[in-house]
Amino acid sequence: MRYDVITLFPEIIRSWAGESITKRGVEKGIIEINTYNPRDYSLDKHKKVDDTPYGGGAGMVLACQPIFDCYRDIEKTDDFEFIMLTPQGEKFNQKMSKELSFKKQIIFLCGHYEGFDERIRLGLKPKEVSIGDYVLTGGELASLVMIDSISRNLENYLGKQASSDIDSFSDGLKGLLEYPQYTKPRVFEDMEVPDVLLNGNHKEIDEFRKQESIKRTKARRPDLL
Ligand code: ADE
Repeated sequence: MRYDVITLFPEIIRSWAGESITKRGVEKGIIEINTYNPRDYSLDKHKKVDDTPYGGGAGMVLACQPIFDCYRDIEKTDDFEFIMLTPQGEKFNQKMSKELSFKKQIIFLCGHYEGFDERIRLGLKPKEVSIGDYVLTGGELASLVMIDSISRNLENYLGKQASSDIDSFSDGLKGLLEYPQYTKPRVFEDMEVPDVLLNGNHKEIDEFRKQESIKRTKARRPDLL
């Protein structure tokens, strides 16, 4: 999977990409993350990327020229999606994450502080995506949330495929929340690990976990059932 991120703050993306599972994904060649700064494409002598809104009002608006030129400069594969991060977009969820993981390439467009000139939407026709009903300072964190989630669907990305399969919302449990997990010690501050997990009977353990998943989903997210 190739990710291309258009951002005024490429260091945010690069520093995250250089850590943990993402770093290993890059090293294993499963994912590739490139960044592009619209400022490098600005034809303005001060490298401006935004301007005041026509009609007045507070704040600045990201201008068309640097974004159009930056987007057009990115090498495209024959199977890519172009995503604009915005609180006005379609809500991101596990289903969208799975679907996007079948693409060869995803290009993300991050705003920062400002809105986008509407002609970026009209001219470049991105798929607009929101990661939730709250407003972030920029699209950078939203793009990282999406990259993290999408990459987890890719084969061999996680050390053990099993850990993805049992995650809440993943195919393994068909939309149920994850069951409670325990590790050593068996007793901690008078709280005991359930006996069934200690008896080595895997059929019973599987059944216990399934029931716990259902119980938890009913209590916390009945909308998923
Ligand atoms: N940019 C600002 N807020 C956002 C959100 N909730 N989702 C995606 N992009 C954003």
